[in-house]
Amino acid sequence: MARILITSAIPYINGIKHLGNLVGSQLPADLFARYMRARGHEVMFICATDEHGTPAELAAAKAGQPVAEYCAEMHTVQADIARGFRLSFDHFGRSSSLRNHVLTQHFAGQLADNGLIREVTEKMIYSVDDGRFLPDRYVEGTCPNCGYESARGDQCDNCTKQLDPTDLINPRSTISGSTNLELRETKHLYLMQRSLRDKLEAWIGSKTDWPLLTTSIAKKWLNDGDGLQDRGITRDLHWGIPVKRGDQPWPGMEGKVFYVWFDAPIEYIAATAEWADAQGLDDAAWQRWWRTDKGADDVTYYQFMGKDNVPFHTLSFPATILGSGEPWKLVDYLKSFNYLNYDGGQFSTSRGRGVFMDQALSILPADYWRWWLLSHAPESSDAEFTWENFQGSVNKDLADVLGNLVSRVTKFATAKFGTTVPAGGQFGPLETALVADLGARIREYESLMQAMEVRKAAAELRAIWVIGNEYLQAAAPWTVVKTDPEQAQAMIRLSLNLIRVYAILSQPFIPDASATMMAAIGSDDWTWPDDLPAAMRSLEPGQPFTVPENLFRKITDEERTDWQARFAGVRT
Ligand code: 2FM
Ligand code: ZN
Repeated sequence: MARILITSAIPYINGIKHLGNLVGSQLPADLFARYMRARGHEVMFICATDEHGTPAELAAAKAGQPVAEYCAEMHTVQADIARGFRLSFDHFGRSSSLRNHVLTQHFAGQLADNGLIREVTEKMIYSVDDGRFLPDRYVEGTCPNCGYESARGDQCDNCTKQLDPTDLINPRSTISGSTNLELRETKHLYLMQRSLRDKLEAWIGSKTDWPLLTTSIAKKWLNDGDGLQDRGITRDLHWGIPVKRGDQPWPGMEGKVFYVWFDAPIEYIAATAEWADAQGLDDAAWQRWWRTDKGADDVTYYQFMGKDNVPFHTLSFPATILGSGEPWKLVDYLKSFNYLNYDGGQFSTSRGRGVFMDQALSILPADYWRWWLLSHAPESSDAEFTWENFQGSVNKDLADVLGNLVSRVTKFATAKFGTTVPAGGQFGPLETALVADLGARIREYESLMQAMEVRKAAAELRAIWVIGNEYLQAAAPWTVVKTDPEQAQAMIRLSLNLIRVYAILSQPFIPDASATMMAAIGSDDWTWPDDLPAAMRSLEPGQPFTVPENLFRKITDEERTDWQARFAGVRT
């Protein structure tokens, strides 16, 4: 049994995320966590809300709420929606937790002790009308790189270039719109990432099995001089983790907080400590996941994130870990995703364009979305959600292929042989061929799941469902029953066992439907079908089963056009 640590990029607290966000990190991380648990491994799956920085402050201001109150509320909202999507986090933490305060201050202290922090007095944008400095997203203006007029102070949404507020042309305050801005001196801490360049390069160079998307972004940032600048890790804000050197005050840094991107990844560790606290466990319980001197040397650590997060996870966070000089666990495998677009354009949080997680659940159950999103995950390139494609996928894959098989088998069995697993007959050549074919496909599915090839694994799973239908078509128990009812019983017995195996295999993708299937055939044995011939005989003859409610319903053309219009823009 392996020990598997999985983290998903932690979503910003500012509002409900859209389906593009979901498929870029949390959902594939959940797929992998569920699969690894199903294979009997010990899994720790961590996520959290990212609660500091300007996104949180601006959203709270817009909502007219104190920021701490806003974050507490939105955390509950995001946690509820995550449960709705069946995201199986072991803990969904908060980056504003006391644990994260202490750990972030600890890391800063270690970095300072190791000579990797320098204090810089620099000129930052100060808004005279707002009476405050304007870091990051508190200032907007024209991107010097592409000319986009609404670039934010930390990054241009149009060309993705990382920016400094002082880079912007025609800057204005996001708070008041004021252009009465000036440069004022202020002191900040810089993490000397450049001193860690060789270590980072060697570490990234050793990751020969990472997806191309991940390593190409990491190497680009490492080599083009853009990414490995020393980075400011403090801000002139009130909301955040107060700058301290370990548990000691940091002279000259009073009233400042750490930059959100410094404390956010540390929350992966802190959230695991929050998990231990919530379980009433001691520090050893979380340290065995994170400290290689305390048991984490046999942990394999996987991270999931969208491509825009890759530089922070391949350079900045590892710089914090390596620079600490302490034996913290570094990521072993970093799975990154391209973007999901929406119906001919982009998802847009500000314009309410696209489907947001709460809206998705209000129109269809989680499994429908999980299936489409995972089977179309933006892995090798950006992908696009269209309602036609969604309708086609749900109606064909889920309703026609899987749902239909389950309903045909259970209904036919009930009508002909009653509501217990029939005992008659023996498996013949068709059944033997199915088991052989299925066995080979399951091994392929396992290797794709292990490799986190999400789309390909979904395609393989679908193929596994299809061969069940083909078997049923070829065996035709509804014909055989007329001449050889014993043989028809054997066919149905095999088919009921097949439903159980499908429930187990499909569970990482569609957990609710899998649970319904398992309950319908009267089993709760989720043992992975390593021994397929045995798994195909797992149900005892005479064991009761039921016909499940329609597993999946079809999406009508009317619904499709209605939803398309409803989610085209401006969120209501
Ligand atoms: O892009 C985002 O949504 C960030 N909140 C991700 C942070 S991931 C990590 F660093 F914690
Ligand atoms: Zn730009």
